Amino acid sequence: MKLSGKTILITGGTSGIGWELAQQLLKKDNRVNILGRDQSKLAAAKKLGFLTIQCDLAKVQEIENAVLSIQNNFTDLEVLFNNAGIQFNYDFTNSVVALDKIEKEIMVNVTGQLILTQLLIPVLSTAKQALIVNTTSALGMFPKPDGLIYSASKAAMRNFTFGLRYALKNRNIKVVEFIPPVTATGMTAQRTEEKMPADRLVGLAIPQIEKGKVIVTIGKIQIFRWLAFLFPSIAHRILSGNK
Ligand SMILES: NC(=O)c1ccc[n+]([C@@H]2O[C@H](COP(=O)([O-])OP(=O)(O)OC[C@H]3O[C@@H](n4cnc5c(N)ncnc54)[C@H](OP(=O)(O)O)[C@@H]3O)[C@@H](O)[C@H]2O)c1
Repeated sequence: MKLSGKTILITGGTSGIGWELAQQLLKKDNRVNILGRDQSKLAAAKKLGFLTIQCDLAKVQEIENAVLSIQNNFTDLEVLFNNAGIQFNYDFTNSVVALDKIEKEIMVNVTGQLILTQLLIPVLSTAKQALIVNTTSALGMFPKPDGLIYSASKAAMRNFTFGLRYALKNRNIKVVEFIPPVTATGMTAQRTEEKMPADRLVGLAIPQIEKGKVIVTIGKIQIFRWLAFLFPSIAHRILSGNK
């Protein structure tokens, strides 16, 4: 699908990868609606020509309100980017974390996106051609010891994306998984390894989506994905640092 002249909703569009997606897609003459919580970032985006929806994906009532607003004002929705995400880093086996921390990570990264997707399928169904792009993570294949809940949430979204693609196979809605490499955003600010700039990532991802790829990966992740599929024990050894 050519990503120009389309009506697009991007969750987590106020910063990082989502903000970069929003900017590049606006430049390609799309109508871009950004969903996020941060009112000041939404207001600034509005001044630049974006439509905005304030919504906390951890709150079901706010998701329902956002969907109502889309049903009323944004009926020609064609593309949904489920991109919002949070990551908490701690040692699950040694720290006692407040239950709401686990709940929140699952709610924002999984439950909220599932509810939003389900409620928006009827709207997307009215488009001639529609697209759902779910941002997952390589950690959904290779869990990170200090990010177990995040990794599990991304594994859930990988599985959901795969299943949704089959469930919608005879419909007008295509389903894409987008697996970014480590990218320079607020989420990775504490990480020291090499990071891809978000503008470069998005510049490489958009053409892949337009070409109709169902799994969009950039750089090393492509190799690791195949390695994990063909030789899971070798992938495990590399990732766990065991010889
Ligand atoms: N950066 C990486 O290396 C990397 C790698 C693989 C996958 N990813 C995935 O890529 C996606 C974007 O991440 P990023 O790196 O761009 O992170 P980011 O810069 O921290 O942005 C996260 C976005 O999610 C939104 N968000 C967070 N909590 C929310 C909530 N409760 N309700 C609604 N929106 C919420 C934030 O908006 P507000 O603050 O306005 O709510 C923000 O726009 C995530 O799904 C992440 O898991 C990132």
